[in-house]
Amino acid sequence: MSQSLFERLGGNKGITALTSDLVDNHLANPAIANRFMNSDVATVKNAAAMFMIAGTGGENNYKGKDMLAAHRGMNISALEFMAVLDDALVALDQSKIGQREQEEVLFILYSMRSDIVLV
Ligand code: HEM
Repeated sequence: MSQSLFERLGGNKGITALTSDLVDNHLANPAIANRFMNSDVATVKNAAAMFMIAGTGGENNYKGKDMLAAHRGMNISALEFMAVLDDALVALDQSKIGQREQEEVLFILYSMRSDIVLV
């Protein structure tokens, strides 16, 4: 049996580091930083980690909203969505994740677009 994406991303520890970098990248990205102006960074990092751990085949301890409920009414643009994908690819590079896994993560993230952009 091949390893799950969760395992190939480094399990709980690897994904926690990855999502921490991802949120840091958002906060430093002028295209979207303002969206997180009033956010508690530790809370957002924890939600991102739990969401990605559950979504890649790890334990499901995600207690947050589904993607439509989480982003409804925010009027998120296609450009902002691209900025999040860009930040994810940078974070994957920062963790030295291989191309195959990067492609899988990108595909999973992209598949959520219709629940996030202009909803
Ligand atoms: C595939 C792409 C995305 C995923 C997987 C994602 C995931 C999440 C998750 C898991 C939460 C936490 C929800 C909760 O705790 O109930 C969240 C909240 C949020 N997301 Fe996204 N998101 C994505 C794209 C975006 C985009 C493009 C923006 C806008 C630039 C955005 C802005 C926000 C904001 C402002 C919050 C609330 C943060 C807070 O609680 O302070 N997200 N997102």
